[in-house]
Amino acid sequence: AAMLAIIGAMDEEIELLLAELREREDLTRPGVTLHRGVLDGVPVLLTRGGIGKVNAAMTTTHLLTAGATRVIFTGVAGGVQPGLRVGDIVVSTDLVQHDVDVTALGYEPGTVPGEPPAWPADERLRALALAAAGEVKGVRVLEGRVASGDQFVASREGAQRLHDLFGAACAEMEGAAVAQVCAKAGVPFVVIRSVSDTADHDAQVDYRSFMPLVARHAKQVVRGMLARL
Ligand code: ADE
Repeated sequence: AAMLAIIGAMDEEIELLLAELREREDLTRPGVTLHRGVLDGVPVLLTRGGIGKVNAAMTTTHLLTAGATRVIFTGVAGGVQPGLRVGDIVVSTDLVQHDVDVTALGYEPGTVPGEPPAWPADERLRALALAAAGEVKGVRVLEGRVASGDQFVASREGAQRLHDLFGAACAEMEGAAVAQVCAKAGVPFVVIRSVSDTADHDAQVDYRSFMPLVARHAKQVVRGMLARL
């Protein structure tokens, strides 16, 4: 049976969706709790995955083992593409791990030996996300590459490096780990990120103040996708 998994980065985002979850059942797994139920009539697994690539990979593995057949990740990101503004929504075209460095052995920056240089998101989920995000009032939506790494990027040089070296639109800390696990399992996925800051010296401040707004946007995008499934 089809089962949609929704991973949020923050409690704030999950709370709004969790409040709408019917027939809720909590599944305790090592390191994470999955909430199974029905959201707007659709069977889902909902969870707060925690921060960073390790948590994201662990959570995704548990979701797949619990029966997830498609995965949506929603959260915030630092915009690194020039012109991106706080509030914009990025729908992933593909994802890279910007903190991987095996260049000493001749691999390109970001490439994990034995893995592709980037993980493409599912075409259909991308289209659903674009349509749903397009309905959120007052936000610009664009498609772009998402760069993940175990770093909160908070400098102009750091942000610029991600754009120049990887062609990234935004920087976050989980997406490419979700992507890698899903790709290995042949499970379609998409990452949707609201820009909370521009990954520069103001990143910490913008990030905190933008959280509540982002949580509402994330909820709207997910429900918009559910309505289109
Ligand atoms: N998530 C939100 N803003 C971020 C940033 N600047 N770097 C990494 N992850 C983020």
